[in-house]
Amino acid sequence: MVREILIYPDKRLQILSEEVKAFDATLHTLLDDMYETMIARKGVGLAAIQIGIPQRVLIINLPHDEDGTQPKENTLEVINPLFLVEEGTTTYQEGCLSLPNIYEDVKRFKYVKVEYQDRYGNKQMVESDDFLAIALQHEIEHLNGHVFIENLSFIKRKKFEKEWRKKYKL
Ligand code: CO
Repeated sequence: MVREILIYPDKRLQILSEEVKAFDATLHTLLDDMYETMIARKGVGLAAIQIGIPQRVLIINLPHDEDGTQPKENTLEVINPLFLVEEGTTTYQEGCLSLPNIYEDVKRFKYVKVEYQDRYGNKQMVESDDFLAIALQHEIEHLNGHVFIENLSFIKRKKFEKEWRKKYKL
């Protein structure tokens, strides 16, 4: 089921998401709904809090290079993630389904190694020094109640907030 995505500055995006303890049918439905919602909005990643569920759950599905498809079996389902290694720096232009049509350069670690649990509660490990590393950092930030524009410089952030208020008549 496609669920509604919270749009910045919805206060719920600031909630610190809680650790998942039950790897049950409710969690599996949440993960399946997150995939459908992400695909419907043409995203590459989604955190549970973006659909209003404050649990440490995120998904990432990077489109195939050849045809841009995002089959469900390619979805990385990450629960209770923990950074084991963070190294180097890189800058990448990021976007977010909670901030439609905003793309800004953000400085991130170049390489990360993350321990997490899969939908059955099994411990897994993922590492990347590529776009996946950026996506992991972006989504884990959501679990901690933050969005990517909080990483912008003071000046850039001010400019963004002004434009955003105007666009959404806040
Ligand atoms: Co996001």
